[in-house]
Amino acid sequence: MHPLLNTAVTAARAAGDFIMRHYNQADQLTVTTKQASDFVSEVDQQAERIIIDRIHKAYPSHAILAEESGEHGEAGGMQWIIDPLDGTTNYLHRFPQFAVSIACKDRSELEVAVVYDPFSQELFTASRGAGTQLDGRRVRVSRTSRLETSLIGTGLPFRKDQKIDHYLPMLREVMLNTAGVRRPGAAALDLAYLAAGRLDGFWELGLKPWDMAAGILLVREAGGTVTELGGGKDPMKSGNILAGNLKIHGQLEKLLKPHL
Ligand code: IPD
Ligand code: CA
Ligand code: CA
Repeated sequence: MHPLLNTAVTAARAAGDFIMRHYNQADQLTVTTKQASDFVSEVDQQAERIIIDRIHKAYPSHAILAEESGEHGEAGGMQWIIDPLDGTTNYLHRFPQFAVSIACKDRSELEVAVVYDPFSQELFTASRGAGTQLDGRRVRVSRTSRLETSLIGTGLPFRKDQKIDHYLPMLREVMLNTAGVRRPGAAALDLAYLAAGRLDGFWELGLKPWDMAAGILLVREAGGTVTELGGGKDPMKSGNILAGNLKIHGQLEKLLKPHL
């Protein structure tokens, strides 16, 4: 295994074990509201510390961009992008769809990625040029070629400052033209599912880099296409992501374009 990936997996499993130790009491944790409908618990913060400690033990000079503690170190070289608990709202309700997401980037190139679901203990990994694995076995995006038979993941806007009226016509269009839409509630896991062929496409507006960095590499290494919604190559710039197997990505893009 790539040494960077090895570190990412060890850190993700350690954080995941910690997250699961508190799962049964998750509804009793101290929770802070970052902004309306955006929560952080002591588990998010402690899990992030566990991950950063592991990374810094192995790579003391690498930079970090982490959801709860922000940016540390020079971002121009190696940088780790961390979401210690993606799907916090699910976790706090003991709705078992959440994950640890860790990626490492060398300047602009994503090198390795891990999305670990500590509830199911599914481990999704990728390193650049070496494909995507689920629990060590190679996975690929689906072969679904027609939108009418596709299953599409998305994220619903959940804060008042998000552009709900901009989003709803897109949702309507996708509902009318596919076999179904799912909103599981953890973007990193949505992208991992897409990489494993469980979803055929995915789009969401306003994501942060830590929600999607690892998932982007998982999808690309599994043969899928990821762009900015609207055409740009790097969805981490705007936060608006469109992903899918090649055929479904193209059809979704056409469908959503008039609503951008
Ligand atoms: C959230 C989840 C969710 C997505 C939100 C994210 P968090 O991350 O990924 O699926 O719709 O936009 O903020 O806050 O649970 O880490
Ligand atoms: Ca997140
Ligand atoms: Ca989070």
